[in-house]
Amino acid sequence: MMSSFKDQILEGIPTSIPALKKKEEGINHAPIRKQILTEEERKLALKNALRYFPKEQHSVLAKEFLNELDTLGRIYMHRFRPDYKMTARPISDYPGKCEQAKAIMLMIQNNLDYAVAQHPHELITYGGNGAVFQNWIQYRLTMKYLAEMSNEQTLVMYSGHPMGLFPSHKDAPRVVVTNGMMIPNYSQPDDWEKFNALGVTQYGQMTAGSYMYIGPQGIVHGTTITVLNAGRKISKNGEGLEGKLFVTAGLGGMSGAQPKAANIAGCLSVTAEINAKAVQTRYSQGWVDEVIADVDELCARVRQAKANNEIVSIAYQGNIVDVWEAFDKNDIYIDLGSDQTSLHNPWAGGYYPADMTLEESNEMMANDPDEFKKRVQSTLVRHANSVNKHTAKGTYFFDYGNAFLLEASRAGADVMAENGIDFKYPSYVQDIMGPMCFDYGFGPFRWVCASGMAEDLQKTDDIACAVLEKMKETSPDEIQQQMADNIQWIKGAQENKLVVGSQARILYADAEGRMKIAKAFNDAITDGKIGPVVLGRDHHDVSGTDSPYRETSNIYDGSKFTADMAIQNVIGDSFRGATWVSIHNGGGVGWGEVINGGFGMLLDGSSDAERRLKSMLHWDVNNGISRRSWARNEGAIYAINRAMEIEPNLKVTVPAIVEDDIIDGLF
Ligand SMILES: NC(=O)c1ccc[n+]([C@@H]2O[C@H](COP(=O)([O-])OP(=O)(O)OC[C@H]3O[C@@H](n4cnc5c(N)ncnc54)[C@H](O)[C@@H]3O)[C@@H](O)[C@H]2O)c1
Repeated sequence: MMSSFKDQILEGIPTSIPALKKKEEGINHAPIRKQILTEEERKLALKNALRYFPKEQHSVLAKEFLNELDTLGRIYMHRFRPDYKMTARPISDYPGKCEQAKAIMLMIQNNLDYAVAQHPHELITYGGNGAVFQNWIQYRLTMKYLAEMSNEQTLVMYSGHPMGLFPSHKDAPRVVVTNGMMIPNYSQPDDWEKFNALGVTQYGQMTAGSYMYIGPQGIVHGTTITVLNAGRKISKNGEGLEGKLFVTAGLGGMSGAQPKAANIAGCLSVTAEINAKAVQTRYSQGWVDEVIADVDELCARVRQAKANNEIVSIAYQGNIVDVWEAFDKNDIYIDLGSDQTSLHNPWAGGYYPADMTLEESNEMMANDPDEFKKRVQSTLVRHANSVNKHTAKGTYFFDYGNAFLLEASRAGADVMAENGIDFKYPSYVQDIMGPMCFDYGFGPFRWVCASGMAEDLQKTDDIACAVLEKMKETSPDEIQQQMADNIQWIKGAQENKLVVGSQARILYADAEGRMKIAKAFNDAITDGKIGPVVLGRDHHDVSGTDSPYRETSNIYDGSKFTADMAIQNVIGDSFRGATWVSIHNGGGVGWGEVINGGFGMLLDGSSDAERRLKSMLHWDVNNGISRRSWARNEGAIYAINRAMEIEPNLKVTVPAIVEDDIIDGLF
């Protein structure tokens, strides 16, 4: 007889080896990773993997794991994938002694849900390599630890490996996660390939390895804000985006939000995606309206849509380079352009070369990685050349934080500005998110209704909306636009059917907004109006991430290559009451290119939860504002002064601005 879900969780590592599992077709699998280990290292990888099992199972498992390593490039331990449905259940369905740990189990399962995760069987949530765990035994063991732990213990996670439960106290985080933390000199892309294949580290991306991914909704909102504000930048007479065309690429984990965001922002959009499965996933979810696989047909359809001022999103099933080149040849004017292929991961499936099928590329990636790299680079040059032709005609192009300009420049494409230091085009953070949102403390606050009930989500939407509307009445002019955009977003959230996986919502809010909304949720829980709520955020935020080509690309005092802010943030969150914290190397822009961290916090209606939310959320935002202010960012100087007026215990050093003449006079 099949044991219950709770029993299977409590079993952890099964005592006898379960039946082999066949590879399931129809599920999006991770690309085969390149063979990078020497023979000695392959032996080491096997020894490492077998550490989890009793001796008598070693001879069977050793062969199988070697086969996985040699054919897939990694040891996923597929046989140990659980049989129960992988999905976020209501919190009451989880076994355990502490609600906080149950909330974390719910979030882990959501990150691996087939409807949510990019390569669920390889434990990859998004971004091609964003892992929750390295293998299924780590998953099983972690869930067991969570089910057994008390409020006086902390589970320590080393890149997917649960090191164990350590005594702590009830105000400590229940889980502390580190992912991909390397000695800095060992942070090249091939170091990830090697040490991940050895089983000693993983690429946690941002919200993958920190259990805070909520499907593409998490990103729809940020993308909507970006497209809306990009539209404001190109608006000549205050007109909106109607009749304007946005061209981009990627219908994957995050990029899949683009067509939906373009619809909400009110423009015509074309999103190229080479992977037919990814196209179908987004199409079946209603995130993109139409699919076209022929480039001539695409040109005709876009002409027609432009002529009729249609707000429609079109997926082009094929290579993005074909779209840029065809629109140039056919004189189709692109108003806004960007790209969200996974160029943080260019050699392992993040970016597909032109004139090859997906299958041909995947094969070459594994069997002839040098040639694959050459093809990626020559495509990048073609891609950038075509973008340049369009921008010469007036297109506003921005880098979407996916390392497109960085990799294109490394490939030798003409993307550098005249000074040879900056890129020709701004990143969306430099032009839009940084100065308009992050510097004021606005960032991707989110929550998950742990009851799993859609009506709880509806109630929290209403609560959040009421809080924002009240705040807007007295908000200063500097943040009126952000408040208005967010109120509009939350009002349309239900209608836009954004939920994939858990009952989650995202909303950009500043420190004050986050604290007030969280307090209102906690009160509603106390009053029995809603069940418990998990708070969190994307790492792509005000304070959580140091990333010189993305989140901190609008830091101009030279400190954008430091990572003090992200490290301070995770340390500060952990002793101010977070339920779990995480800090990662790599995420978004690539291994070695970013340090990012995040948190999760369970609201259970208690006075402890109220105390924690106030203390932690205040720090979690104002840390970044103070650093941005110290970097002389105007909006942040305004925001930190305002924060100090509101909270007398906040005392931050504010920069003196030196007149350029004084410096220039010396040279
Ligand atoms: N959405 C955001 O707010 C945001 C913010 C910052 C960075 N990013 C970056 O955007 C990138 C995409 O993220 P994701 O989670 O969607 O990754 P993903 O790997 O899930 O999706 C990328 C998609 O691009 C497709 N693709 C690759 N090369 C292509 C090509 N030449 N033509 C057409 N399609 C191609 C892939 O098949 C894949 O489905 C990442 O680098 C991420 O860091 C996104």
